[in-house]
Amino acid sequence: MQMQVTSGTALLDDSLPKGAATNNTEILRAANLRKVYRSGDQQIVPLDGIDLEVIRGEMIAIVGPSGAGKSTLLHLLAALDTPTSGAVYFAGDSLHDLAEKNVAEYRNRAVGFVWQRHHLLPDFTAAENVAMPLLVRGTSLAQALRTAKDWLGEVGLADRAGQRGGQLSGGEQQRVAIARALVNGPTLLIADEPTGDLDQQSAESVFELMYRLHQSHRLTSILATHNNSLARRADRALILEHGKLTPAGVLLAQSAAPLGRMADGAMQTLEDLG
Ligand SMILES: Nc1ncnc2c1ncn2[C@@H]1O[C@H](COP(=O)(O)OP(=O)(O)OP(=O)(O)O)[C@@H](O)[C@H]1O
Ligand SMILES: [Mg+2]
Repeated sequence: MQMQVTSGTALLDDSLPKGAATNNTEILRAANLRKVYRSGDQQIVPLDGIDLEVIRGEMIAIVGPSGAGKSTLLHLLAALDTPTSGAVYFAGDSLHDLAEKNVAEYRNRAVGFVWQRHHLLPDFTAAENVAMPLLVRGTSLAQALRTAKDWLGEVGLADRAGQRGGQLSGGEQQRVAIARALVNGPTLLIADEPTGDLDQQSAESVFELMYRLHQSHRLTSILATHNNSLARRADRALILEHGKLTPAGVLLAQSAAPLGRMADGAMQTLEDLG
């Protein structure tokens, strides 16, 4: 099915309910995803039949050893790469069937992507970095900078708007990168080891920021992490290993608690991971 990007489509329809994992609406699905890399005679199969259903409003953590294929999977979910076989569906539409222009819309509008390394432009200010996706969309400079400053406020950096990217600390740079990922109002937040380069304290604080934004903006979030203590706080933790994705358990969302709490069995599974 072809997805239109004009008004009223799943991709850009703001009236679609966001968040609140209570209505069990599937927003993203991976079906039998395979990714095969070939170099010479060698073949690497990081993803060997991945099935994943993502419900609106949930936060999923993906853990697994280095080289297991976490980044590969996130890139496929964000349409930054294509699978060897299998499909990714967003709001029921196969990304594979979209016209190239609509895939770009999905990538730029429906998905906010956070990388392990922030990739900020060091000579541009924090506000200019956050404004960049809006400028790409054709928003005026003045409006883009106003929105960017609002977002810097949301990530606790209102007073750093004029500071150059290269002059910010690692944790601050990652906060700017999160603001930049969310400035277009995406449905999905996909983060590839967003705290991987940070010390434990900064990692905790960046994770808590992401969790707060996940809730307040009713995002659906998928993050890869090596940090099991952070993975435990997601609604669901999955382990990617030997090309397969398996549940690490279910995290019980606690409305009273700032962060969720995981079922004992799942906690044990993650403890076993080391
Ligand atoms: N473009 C590519 N060409 C060939 N092999 C690749 C390519 N990209 C990734 N790989 C291989 O695919 C496997 C999965 O890589 P991937 O980066 O997805 O792992 P990861 O789980 O994200 O690891 P890490 O935790 O270290 O980030 C690795 O063996 C990697 O070498
Ligand atoms: Mg990776």
